[in-house]
Amino acid sequence: AEPLKVALLGCGVVGSAVARQLTEDADDLAARVGAPLELVGVAVRDLDKPRPESGVPTELFTTDAEDLVTRADLVIELMGGLEPARSLLLRAIEHGAGVVTANKALLGADGPTLYAAADARGVDLSFEASVAGAIPLLRPLRESLAGDDVQRVMGIVNGTTNFILDKMDRTGAALSEVLAEAQELGYAEADPTADVEGYDAQAKAAILASLAFHTRVATSDVHCEGIMGVTAEDIRDARKIGCVVKLLAICDRSADGVSARVHPTLVPRSHPLATVHGAFNAVFLDTALAGELMFYGQGAGARPTASAVLGDLVQAARHRVDGGHGPRESAYAHLPILPIAST
Ligand code: NAP
Ligand code: HSE
Repeated sequence: AEPLKVALLGCGVVGSAVARQLTEDADDLAARVGAPLELVGVAVRDLDKPRPESGVPTELFTTDAEDLVTRADLVIELMGGLEPARSLLLRAIEHGAGVVTANKALLGADGPTLYAAADARGVDLSFEASVAGAIPLLRPLRESLAGDDVQRVMGIVNGTTNFILDKMDRTGAALSEVLAEAQELGYAEADPTADVEGYDAQAKAAILASLAFHTRVATSDVHCEGIMGVTAEDIRDARKIGCVVKLLAICDRSADGVSARVHPTLVPRSHPLATVHGAFNAVFLDTALAGELMFYGQGAGARPTASAVLGDLVQAARHRVDGGHGPRESAYAHLPILPIAST
């Protein structure tokens, strides 16, 4: 079969790992898709930055992302931020490309615009890596559980803050001492304020609530309190009463509507969430038919996130080869968003 042209937007922590895997695993990926995947360009800001870990030949780097997205069958967006990511994804969809993104900030702020554009054009828009890193969670919500009714989504969806709170618990360190380490390990956002203030988990909660409850929850609908106020003393006090502090995202559906919130929470040490260490994430679902489901795995970092991105890419590429597309998200019903009192 003809090669499928792949454009990569961004070659940082996640983009580098995706690019390397595309090259190193090219034969296996081609076999799984039914056609070779040809990387035709990688958009970055700084052409002079050395990127040996990506394995991308120098001539493929470009600063002209607008042109690049019109030359591809499949576009992977790993730049982050609202703009130019949104315009580039819309341009790629307009040109008929299937798109993959890990950009929870964009999806939480303006997912419906992208969903509508992809559905209107009949192309894939997949974003498994946008919530809980490597954990297959959005595809189960969008596909496997499409016939069930999810009542609650609750869990740890930010690896950076879990890494920080876990290390504070185990070593007695202060928050500021541990943040730099989370950044060095590639867990934190480009601006780590998004992690520690809870905004990253807030956007993820909006995506989860939207998919789980088939409605439109935006980031601004989610009550958010981050971990900046959590002190070493708070962690010690929690320990004295047999608890750990975890940043939880909690989304509920009731007869009245849906609600979503993110805040530090005391979790008894006997609870499975208390045993989630480092940058791991864990999410519980409560559904009408399946009952309780638990998802667990690495929630951040280059290779775990690349796993989710590449899974989406293979799926979108298969659709290019065989026809069809992933689930449509633009036809959500509108359930009332319930106000949440400040905690
Ligand atoms: P990153 O290391 O900051 O990389 C961002 C890349 O995008 C860089 O290569 C940068 O170019 C490029 N870029 C940014 N703005 C650009 C622009 N206007 N034009 C062209 N290129 C541009 O970020 P990351 O950690 O890989 O995260 C990427 C995305 O994945 C974000 O949406 C993030 O939220 C999401 N994500 C990250 C993780 C994680 O563990 N890191 C996990 C899940 C999801 P330069 O290198 O030239 O500056
Ligand atoms: N900064 C995010 C986190 C990356 O720590 O969870 C994964 O989405």
